Amino acid sequence: MDIKGKVVIVTGASSGIGEATAREFGREGAKVVLAARRVDKLQTLAQEIDAMSTSAQAYVVQADLSKLEDIQKLVSQTLEIFGRIDVLVNNAGFGRLDWLENLDPVKDIQAQIDVNVMGVIQTTRQVLPVMIRQRSGSVINMCSMAGLVATPTYTIYAASKHAVHGFSEALRREVKPWGIDVSLVYPGGVVTEFTQHAGIKRKTNASTPKFMLLTAEQVGKAVVKLVRHPRRMWVIPWLWSVTVFMNRFLPGLVDRTTINNFTIPERADELNRK
Ligand SMILES: NC(=O)c1ccc[n+]([C@@H]2O[C@H](COP(=O)([O-])OP(=O)(O)OC[C@H]3O[C@@H](n4cnc5c(N)ncnc54)[C@H](OP(=O)(O)O)[C@@H]3O)[C@@H](O)[C@H]2O)c1
Repeated sequence: MDIKGKVVIVTGASSGIGEATAREFGREGAKVVLAARRVDKLQTLAQEIDAMSTSAQAYVVQADLSKLEDIQKLVSQTLEIFGRIDVLVNNAGFGRLDWLENLDPVKDIQAQIDVNVMGVIQTTRQVLPVMIRQRSGSVINMCSMAGLVATPTYTIYAASKHAVHGFSEALRREVKPWGIDVSLVYPGGVVTEFTQHAGIKRKTNASTPKFMLLTAEQVGKAVVKLVRHPRRMWVIPWLWSVTVFMNRFLPGLVDRTTINNFTIPERADELNRK
């Protein structure tokens, strides 16, 4: 598929994976609609994309993806400016990582569900009639390894990404007859602003091994590839598939390893407290 001239919405385009993805689409000569709350960052990226080639074009929509009226504005402005929507990249999201009882019920729990789950569902719901009318389209949802393997301190984030997984699987089977593809990306650790917002204070050294860490650009390139070659699931890097396999077929072993090597050492002080 030629991506040149295609109309692409990228949510969460103000940093990290979304920014890199929007840039990749710009390099391909697409018309990219950039959505997020930090409008200054979106405008800087829009200028960069506009200067890439004569076909590359960017349009900025300031949108809080937890608000239905902002999502409706995003879709209606895209249609006003470009008249169609070929690709929707549901990327906006964040994680607040801590033991469940420490998470704030509203700012951490409700807010994650509002953006990571409701944002994806409502944006897709608004875009879908357009793609059905066109009899074509591509929806790419940014999931996570946490959408396949859930680890301690990731309760709400994992719940949100498991929801994205289930939503996308059902949707894929609903919309294929209209020529609409639904693809899911499951990155492991990616170097972005994600950890700055996550609030993790680890006591152990448990983290993604350096050689498994991805750049936002690698994920952005994968997203562009998914428009040309849709895939039900893309776990990147592929080595994480071993963990997915073990979690599916040897869950007891994964439980024991996680509890003994992560939960107990991380919570040692609390466990030893009378
Ligand atoms: N980094 C990782 O290790 C990793 C791994 C797997 C999956 N992911 C997923 O990748 C996606 C992008 O994350 P990232 O790593 O690139 O993190 P990031 O650099 O923090 O980017 C997050 C993006 O989401 C946007 N966003 C957050 N809340 C929003 C809201 N209420 N309304 C609109 N936009 C909102 C942010 O924009 P504003 O703040 O400007 O609104 C920002 O553009 C997320 O869905 C994340 O779950 C990340």
